[in-house]
Amino acid sequence: MNATLVFLKQVLRHQRRIGAVLPSSSFLAREMVRGIREDGGPKRVLEVGAGTGTITRRILAQLADGDELLIVEMEPEFVRYLEEKVLKPFRALHPGRGVTVRCAMIEDVEMDRGFGHIICSLPFNAMPPVTVRSIFRHLLASLAEGGELSYFAYWGQHWIQAPLIGRAGRRRLRSIRVIHGSLKRLYHGQRRLVLWNLLPAQAVRLRPAARPPRPLLPEAV
Ligand SMILES: C[S@@+](CC[C@H](N)C(=O)[O-])C[C@H]1O[C@@H](n2cnc3c(N)ncnc32)[C@H](O)[C@@H]1O
Repeated sequence: MNATLVFLKQVLRHQRRIGAVLPSSSFLAREMVRGIREDGGPKRVLEVGAGTGTITRRILAQLADGDELLIVEMEPEFVRYLEEKVLKPFRALHPGRGVTVRCAMIEDVEMDRGFGHIICSLPFNAMPPVTVRSIFRHLLASLAEGGELSYFAYWGQHWIQAPLIGRAGRRRLRSIRVIHGSLKRLYHGQRRLVLWNLLPAQAVRLRPAARPPRPLLPEAV
């Protein structure tokens, strides 16, 4: 089965957990790995929420011998697909590049703070704000000194959903927008709009100046 069909099958089963209708476009995938492309040194990369690997393939293309990629993806079907169709062939060609995938929710994975790049495509708009905040804390705490966290948020999703989700839903999306705003201010966020994607998305890069300040996010948001 091809990647889009595998993705669509999971979307029909678990729309909320996937949080998208199609895999990211090549334009968005390219934007998400911009930081890795600009980094000429040795790399340790974490990808969170890889799906069928649209962004993973772009990350792999930037790795050199000695570099490492850890993928954390919660859907077993995606993990099987990634392992068989993406990682196994890559390892056969590049035995000197360490690529592994873990089938788990990122919240449950203990990590050291050594990642120079974290590329995250989690469906934050489908989560409670408290979960969004705690995942960002977890990811920021896993960055190496000078590291960068990239994620995307669909642009205009709240306008589309607002009439359908009731007052509590609108309040939840508003809280999540406030979290994104705080992150941008605290971590020197840079946003780029990618129109060629369903939905259009903002790719965001966060670069904590030194060690992340405490609290990582204000509790009130
Ligand atoms: C919007 S899709 C992105 C897929 C792919 N990276 C892309 O851009 O096409 C979100 C992915 O995150 C995964 N996911 C959702 N919540 C997760 C969690 N808490 N931990 C790990 N993966 C999660 C879903 O299974 C899905 O594969």
